[in-house]
Amino acid sequence: MASYFQTLLVLVMVTLVTLLVIPVNAELSPHFYDKICPQALPAIKSAVFQAIKKEQRIGASLLRLHFHDCFVNGCDGSVLLDDTASFTGEKTAQPNNNSIRGFSVVDEIKAVVDKACKRPVVSCADILAIAARDSVAILGGSQFWYQVLLGRRDARTASKAAANSNLPPPTFNFSQLISNFNTHGLNVRDLVALSGGHTIGFARCTTFRTRIYNETRLIDPKFAASLRNKCPKKGNDNVLEQLDATVARVDTTYFKDLLHKKGLLHSDQELFKGKGSASDNLVKLYSRSTSAFARDFKASMIKMGNLKPLTGRKGEIRCNCRRIN
Ligand code: HEM
Ligand SMILES: *[C@@H]1O[C@H](CO)[C@@H](O)[C@H](O)[C@H]1NC(C)=O
Ligand SMILES: *[C@@H]1O[C@H](CO)[C@@H](O)[C@H](O)[C@H]1NC(C)=O
Ligand SMILES: *[C@@H]1O[C@H](CO)[C@@H](O)[C@H](O)[C@H]1NC(C)=O
Repeated sequence: MASYFQTLLVLVMVTLVTLLVIPVNAELSPHFYDKICPQALPAIKSAVFQAIKKEQRIGASLLRLHFHDCFVNGCDGSVLLDDTASFTGEKTAQPNNNSIRGFSVVDEIKAVVDKACKRPVVSCADILAIAARDSVAILGGSQFWYQVLLGRRDARTASKAAANSNLPPPTFNFSQLISNFNTHGLNVRDLVALSGGHTIGFARCTTFRTRIYNETRLIDPKFAASLRNKCPKKGNDNVLEQLDATVARVDTTYFKDLLHKKGLLHSDQELFKGKGSASDNLVKLYSRSTSAFARDFKASMIKMGNLKPLTGRKGEIRCNCRRIN
């Protein structure tokens, strides 16, 4: 009996030591920077706060950058890489071109955190994950705060082709959205909760033009008419419209808008058709319960943030988020 427990104890200790000392395929952890640089998270939070104070929309833009990073070969900072004569990044892929923004704010955050840590130890991929979390918590309040998992490293590659094929366009119907999310290991609950990211930020006229001119079902006629005043049939592609009625608040208005057929994007309204589908029921639930939305949004953000991170010795910690070391 005694020797059985001794053997068990040795086994447990060997396993523990192995796990602690050799992070071969390390998992992300909320405590990753606790020892390496305890100043990192507060420094990022204050930089994000200042950036939002300067321009409210930046919170939305930072959240979207994390999404567009994670859905293209994992959360590895690839979306931040600039094109050069010899390198093609993801910035000019169809879903990103003239659309994703916030790169100079990411540069600012990177400078602030590297200074606070006295050396570059926080990856650009983690900066996006932390900035997205902080933006949502700043614009939504403490119920939307979650412990973000960390330890991602930065890619030395990017893929414009993957950005074109892996990011869902706003023309997608419900089954296309579901299969896109499924390829990322995400389900209908993740799809509806994460689409709630559209509780903040703006879309360009070109992304909802077909909806307001050519769709007749599932769009409120007065809503469509008022949008047609701002977004002409031709031209003014870059005119902005808010994605929900309370554009600077992380709240449940996005889902309430869907119940009233006031989703701005075709893909938004695909989540609610009033036929009692699983997705309809989730939209209804989130429209009346901030706590249900917050709970599921946070859980899905963590799932999205776990998409294929580079850890351990893979990748690198970039010195400049726009280029590989
Ligand atoms: C479900 C599929 C999705 C589609 C089809 C979609 C599509 C779009 C489109 C077309 C825009 C406007 C882009 C422009 O006009 O340049 C946009 C903006 C935005 N998206 Fe999504 N999106 C999706 C999911 C998500 C997710 C999962 C998040 C984050 C959790 C997100 C966060 C945002 C934010 C915050 C903005 C506003 C950005 C800003 O104002 O700078 N989206 N999205
Ligand atoms: C990206 O946008 C620029 C500026 O509008 C345009 O000239 C260019 O053709 C676009 N690139 C792609 C690949 O669509
Ligand atoms: C969704 O779009 C795909 C591709 O265009 C099409 O094959 C499918 O029939 C559509 N599904 C529904 C339910 O409309
Ligand atoms: C609406 O549909 C018509 C006929 O298919 C098409 O010619 C037109 O370009 C569409 N308009 C918009 C704004 O998408």
